[in-house]
Amino acid sequence: MSNIKKLLKILSDGKCHSGAAIGKKLGVTRAAIWKLIQQLKAWNIEVEAKTNQGYSISGGMDLLDEKKIAEACSLPKDALKVYDECVSTNTFLLERVREGKKMPRYCLAEYQSHGRGRLGREWFSAYGKNIYFSMAWTFHGDLSQLAGLSLAVAVVVARALNAYGIKEGLGLKWPNDVQWRGKKLAGILIELQGESHHQYEVIIGVGINGESSETMRKAVGQSITSIDEITHQPFERNHFMVLLIQSLTESLQKFQQSGLKTFLKDWESFDVALHKKVKLILGEQTIEGVCRGVDSVRGALLLEDTRGKVCDYSAGEISLRLPC
Ligand code: BTN
Repeated sequence: MSNIKKLLKILSDGKCHSGAAIGKKLGVTRAAIWKLIQQLKAWNIEVEAKTNQGYSISGGMDLLDEKKIAEACSLPKDALKVYDECVSTNTFLLERVREGKKMPRYCLAEYQSHGRGRLGREWFSAYGKNIYFSMAWTFHGDLSQLAGLSLAVAVVVARALNAYGIKEGLGLKWPNDVQWRGKKLAGILIELQGESHHQYEVIIGVGINGESSETMRKAVGQSITSIDEITHQPFERNHFMVLLIQSLTESLQKFQQSGLKTFLKDWESFDVALHKKVKLILGEQTIEGVCRGVDSVRGALLLEDTRGKVCDYSAGEISLRLPC
């Protein structure tokens, strides 16, 4: 185990540990500990340093446990990998597919150095607090049948959050923002790689805010919330991941068989824009109208204009804004 991992294990109990005690356990000097602490800060871990007392991580940390999650989900050997640090779990799987290399189907990271969001945005990372998860899934069929997938995955994430214990306030903003009482709680990034004989490798990335710190709020610059804020309890990431992996695996089989259809009822129940006045931002262009739900095959947004004409819009580069 690396020294940084050993230090994290020591600090994960949330208690204060003196530099001398840490140095003894790790067999390193105080200067070396200071360097390791700087590394933790670079991962956006908020380490408290108290003069003459030592270091602590407020609230401790529930680190991801690869074995525990894989066993609970009955996954085959090597199907799941938990990495300490990753550029981006989506990028990692995409590169593996591109290079034709062996890869885990399910990939989790404690920290992403270049996490990516929709529309080329950055996705904030803090070590050990949130969920950065990607799954590689082989889809058989026509590309057009994949159009509704991002909505179906959003429904699956909302169902997993519901099963985790969040019983009210959850909403979905087209195409796949997961919200709680109007604040962003989770995001989904779906990417495709290659086609041969109607077979696509789909990388499904899910990011969930587990704990929101001041640093995170400042970095994100939009209204966000997190699991700990909603439940008033620390986020049990291992438990949540078992729910998500089980639900996603089962739901993707359903999607392969019957597309978006089986997810539509739940989409409607979570849809925060349904029958509301909304704006669609498409580059420089803004289109206003009333949201009339989504098209049942492709998941395109149905927008009614002032003359009562309904047009459909596919996700692509569009963002949806609701009135505040
Ligand atoms: C969004 O903009 O709402 C989508 C955010 C998706 C973030 C997740 S975190 C795991 C995976 N890896 C990434 O780089 N992005 C996705």
